[in-house]
Amino acid sequence: MPDPTTQSNYLQITSEHIALNWRLDFDFHIISGYVIHHLLVKEEHVEEVIFDTSDLTISDIEVAGQCAQFSIAAVREVMGAALHVKLPTGLKVGERIIVKISYKTSKSSGALQWLSKEHTHGKDFPYLYSQCQPIYARALVPIQDTTAAKFKYSATVVSKFPVLLSALRISPPVDGPAHDGKIVGEDFVTYTYDQPIPIPPYLIAIASGNVCYRTFPQYQDKQWKTGVWAEPGQLESAYWEFSEDTPRFLATAEALLTPYEYGVYDLLVLPPASLYGGMEHPCLTFLTPTVVTGDRTLVDVVIHEITHSWFGNGITHSEASHFWLNEGWTTYFERVVQEVLYSRAHRDFHYIIGAKPLHDSLMHYKDRTKYQRLVIDFDYGEDPDDAYSSVPYEKGANLLLYLERVLGGLDIFLPYMKDYAKTFLGKSITTHDWKSHLFDYYGRNGGEEKVKVLDGIDWNAWLYGEGLKLPVQMDYDLSMAKESYNLAKKWNGARSTDDVTALNFTEKDITGFDAYQIIVFLEHLQTFPQLPLQHVKRLGSLYRVAKTSNAELRFRFYEIALKDPASPSAKAFVTEVAKWIIGDDGTCIIKGRMKFCRPMFRAVTRVNQGIAVDAFKIAQERFHPIVRKMIEKDIGLTKQ
Ligand code: BES
Ligand code: ZN
Repeated sequence: MPDPTTQSNYLQITSEHIALNWRLDFDFHIISGYVIHHLLVKEEHVEEVIFDTSDLTISDIEVAGQCAQFSIAAVREVMGAALHVKLPTGLKVGERIIVKISYKTSKSSGALQWLSKEHTHGKDFPYLYSQCQPIYARALVPIQDTTAAKFKYSATVVSKFPVLLSALRISPPVDGPAHDGKIVGEDFVTYTYDQPIPIPPYLIAIASGNVCYRTFPQYQDKQWKTGVWAEPGQLESAYWEFSEDTPRFLATAEALLTPYEYGVYDLLVLPPASLYGGMEHPCLTFLTPTVVTGDRTLVDVVIHEITHSWFGNGITHSEASHFWLNEGWTTYFERVVQEVLYSRAHRDFHYIIGAKPLHDSLMHYKDRTKYQRLVIDFDYGEDPDDAYSSVPYEKGANLLLYLERVLGGLDIFLPYMKDYAKTFLGKSITTHDWKSHLFDYYGRNGGEEKVKVLDGIDWNAWLYGEGLKLPVQMDYDLSMAKESYNLAKKWNGARSTDDVTALNFTEKDITGFDAYQIIVFLEHLQTFPQLPLQHVKRLGSLYRVAKTSNAELRFRFYEIALKDPASPSAKAFVTEVAKWIIGDDGTCIIKGRMKFCRPMFRAVTRVNQGIAVDAFKIAQERFHPIVRKMIEKDIGLTKQ
């Protein structure tokens, strides 16, 4: 079945290579230039090539060097407008043809966020960055926007600011003077890049702003290079946060799987408005600055993004329905790395942490139960963003953990994982491809006994099951969670005492807890009925979670404060929560990351929709267009 999120005819003819040639206009918030598609004919007598576009202005198209006829179909919501380009007649399977499209993006491109200087760390220069996953590459370039079709790409980009792409820098050299020795913000410099490994469209990425680079120390005899990009004022703290762990994480992952293929693994710390925690662009992971905490407590995000180098970037889901192959595998393997680096208890602890967002997501979809499934049957033109939740991450990771356990443990599962990677790296696959390989592998390597185990699994429940529970109840090592649970129970037990200061809680209760143990404590506490206002206040000040700059902690504290929308606590905290998301006066989004701002907007809406709507209206222009679209649904301005 063709990918339901694209209108392109990628099964008839596909891009093998894409050359981008762009000029960035920071005054008008437009990228203009051209793209050259090197296409391979896959079906006899194909008469046209159809690309996806969204909000692009096409000026001119050449096919094989000749001016070509083209037409743009009506705009479809979500899908965008299909661009039909006429091809010469008589093309044969295996023939190649070049299509050059001159175009520009729109000011409101769904793929781009143009930040004014006030919204950057340094507040001196504007900033641009892209986010193409899941289906916004079409708002950046006319393309066959499907994960099923991978291509290599090269790019030449002219900008007044340093340019970063999800590819290898060709020129000017990364270790040369910043902006090639020219004046940042004034002089135009041409940057060239090459990505020799085929990638799906959603991994095209660009960032341009006043960023600089610091390389991490060489790790053993590794051929790959790692380092971090950030605005000058953030570079030192970002370096400190990630320099020790990143190369170690990467070396651990490749030792368990196959050698890292992309040559460079850099991090880019984005401005605060960035919408995801991390985004695994090849050669250049984008990170939210909310993970730079000054104590390395949230560096695990990097393990996750590194792991995508194999699961997602290497082995790609061939259409939106099979997205769990990216995130479920990544989450599973990220936790294997935790076990190898730390302990089994650490690994299990992250499953325990994940159980809460999984439950929240399943609840969120109680009226749209198809999104509770691991494999989702999307309708043609349905928005994959509507299905984005913890389900593919956590249900997927639990399925793989379950398989690992029933098949005999990690030692038996690791060789299988390696074989899975070797078999499918470079390809786009479906759940069916994955499952056939699993059966095939254990048929070859475990014989009847293992195949019998696999046959006994309730596949239907795991892959297509709905409801609030996993098909199998999973047991985890609770040792790291125990103290957190006990402390939460103690607070719950103290709810009826009026004089909170008389309660014998002290800040020492959490000394020795790492950030995740505090998270689990707060999450467990949130499972009990709403705490009285005085207790919530005391909790916030005693453990310093009410004012902390660690967003993971503060977010959980606010979930406790706003648990019961009708409670005095919710009423007392609701304005503060709204301000935490949008910043004091709404001019600088503090928490553009969807993981924080969406549940917070929903929680505020439940307490007082007016406050949510007012806060959103003040700050809406500053949210990334994708986030804006999602929040509008969350606060009831548009339909879910
Ligand atoms: N690739 C995802 C982010 C994503 C998914 C963007 C779907 C757009 C559509 C990335 O790897 C991710 O999962 N990020 C997480 C952090 C991670 C540590 C779980 C996030 O941003 O919360
Ligand atoms: Zn991910």
